[in-house]
Amino acid sequence: MLILGIESSCDETAAAVVVDGERVLSNVIASQVLTHEKYGGVVPELASREHLKRIVFVVEEACRQAEANLRDMEAIAVTEGPGLVGSLLVGLVYSKALAFALGTPLIGVNHLEGHIQSVLLQNKIALRDGSEVDAAMLPAVALVVSGGHTSLYLVQQQEANENNRPSVFSYSQLGQTRDDAAGEAFDKVAKLLALGYPGGPIIDRLSAFGNPQAFEFGRIRMKRNPLDFSFSGLKTAVLQRLRGTPLEVEAEERRRWRPNAGRVTAEEIRARCSEATLNLIASFQHAVISDLTERTLAAADDQSVQSILVSGGVACNSLLRKSFHEAVKQRGLKVFFPTPVLSTDNAAMIAAAGYYRIAAGHRSNISLTAHASFPLGASGL
Ligand code: KG4
Ligand code: ZN
Repeated sequence: MLILGIESSCDETAAAVVVDGERVLSNVIASQVLTHEKYGGVVPELASREHLKRIVFVVEEACRQAEANLRDMEAIAVTEGPGLVGSLLVGLVYSKALAFALGTPLIGVNHLEGHIQSVLLQNKIALRDGSEVDAAMLPAVALVVSGGHTSLYLVQQQEANENNRPSVFSYSQLGQTRDDAAGEAFDKVAKLLALGYPGGPIIDRLSAFGNPQAFEFGRIRMKRNPLDFSFSGLKTAVLQRLRGTPLEVEAEERRRWRPNAGRVTAEEIRARCSEATLNLIASFQHAVISDLTERTLAAADDQSVQSILVSGGVACNSLLRKSFHEAVKQRGLKVFFPTPVLSTDNAAMIAAAGYYRIAAGHRSNISLTAHASFPLGASGL
């Protein structure tokens, strides 16, 4: 089954063509980083306008790369939430118009389900390539960790049904952030320190040059649910370490330097960071990653799962990958990550998630609409 996936929930306009939820024929992503970088975060109104400018080209390009025609699509899968409503609507309205004009079935997909499915998709790609993969991935605890989300889910798969349809997945939320998402914390701390946008990749690079033990950040205890997260206090703690110190003066110097410097490399930014700043950056990253690893492992212990699935933009973080690999080793668990292109927002994951819904007989109708907040349900399909 050939599925066209369309994703526009935040600041990437993306389209992909995927066969049977496992063979990616194309995966086109138009990033808006250059539009938002001078603001140090995504500006919703600008994001919607950029999606409008790009969506037609991105879908055409996905078809061209897949050597397929829009008429060949057997279904269109589109992100319906959670996300920025104005951004989501661009993908949704375009998908609805396409589905109506072509007479093609339409399916709305939860963006968070897409991120979780990206890990399973990655494993199917590896299997097709002949790489060794672990068949027993589920049940799993999934950590979705990006600029907009930090949540833990229990992921299960029901047995294939009598019609030999692909088996369906169910998701139940175990924990979520009570304030900022982890990626948002990376972006805000990078903004405080005038390191550039998005903050995650640059903090990841610079942390290699600092001492992660130099600054101590206390662990946050969550009273209601120990599997919930909170990162806004950590951002404030960084601000407190900065205020009225030479580190603040240094950050202001970088802030003045940036606008006239054009595109700068991580090396150029590093050259403008003192040892103390690099230590602060590394200590912040260490605190975020330890928190993510510890709560996810605690969830995996509670649920006695086979594996841990980590996805979302922050899943690209090198310390996070190392930290999870080390943590699971001692427990006989497995951890799986998508490649970076499937970790950040993309439409292949939406097409893959849509495939299972379509195969299970689900369809969305023309009243499909955008949801800013859209919890991934306990009942799954
Ligand atoms: O999944 P994504 O592309 O979009 C959202 O749904 O948010 O994730 C983007 C987020 C940004 O906050 C970015 O700073 C963060 O992922 N990110 C990273 C890294 N690469 C991207 N955070 C930490 N380390 C990285 N290497
Ligand atoms: Zn995302």
